[in-house]
Amino acid sequence: MNTKIIIAIDGHSSTGKSTVAKQLAEVLGYTYVDTGAMYRAVAWYAMQNGIIVANELAVDQLKKALSRINIRFKQNPKTAIVETYVNDQNVESFIRSIEVSKWVSKVAAISEVRKKLVEQQQQMGVHKGIVMDGRDIGSVVFPNAELKLFMTASAQVRAQRRYDEMKSKGEKVTFEEVLNNVIERDHIDSTRKDSPLIKAADAIVIDNSDLSRTAQFNKILELVNQAM
Ligand code: DC
Repeated sequence: MNTKIIIAIDGHSSTGKSTVAKQLAEVLGYTYVDTGAMYRAVAWYAMQNGIIVANELAVDQLKKALSRINIRFKQNPKTAIVETYVNDQNVESFIRSIEVSKWVSKVAAISEVRKKLVEQQQQMGVHKGIVMDGRDIGSVVFPNAELKLFMTASAQVRAQRRYDEMKSKGEKVTFEEVLNNVIERDHIDSTRKDSPLIKAADAIVIDNSDLSRTAQFNKILELVNQAM
């Protein structure tokens, strides 16, 4: 039997990290953790509780509220999909909206928020057998992960994917709005002081601008087998 490993998948937004991570977890029988959902859940909580009002994020108020925000993942027994909960409320259908997307990078730039979520993420990986995707998994959360992937694609390709996904869910949004959000988040995520989005030195880059999902997955499976 293979020993279990940690697979860290980082990269820009909408590069298909979560699709790959979910597929890998299923094939390997590993736990999948979407860390972006955790930052989104904190942003959603802030919007619901008067911490983000109009165009203002009350940073000190959010820091104080952190101890009251309990984020969990639970598998839906009907669909087998893992869903995000905040204080026992299922928030899965709210956290991917354009409103949450507009605030999440600012929330994720707050060190206290990162500290809390990183500790929880590290705890989830103590027994290995985990596929985690995010921005700082290979660089900060699991610097000793056995396999680190860094996924990227052009901003246009990524915005088109996110736009198609949002449209299919019936969200009212324009392509321009999504593209601007992708570019703005890239900028904030890559330039923040605490744990910016960077490729860990030992991460393998996967540019999937022109790669089919199947070709990409086969390539990644090969890398997983090597790492094991
Ligand atoms: O993966 P995503 O697009 O759902 O992530 C939402 C935001 O959360 C993203 O703009 C940056 C932030 N994030 C982060 O800072 N660190 C992580 N490990 C995961 C996400």
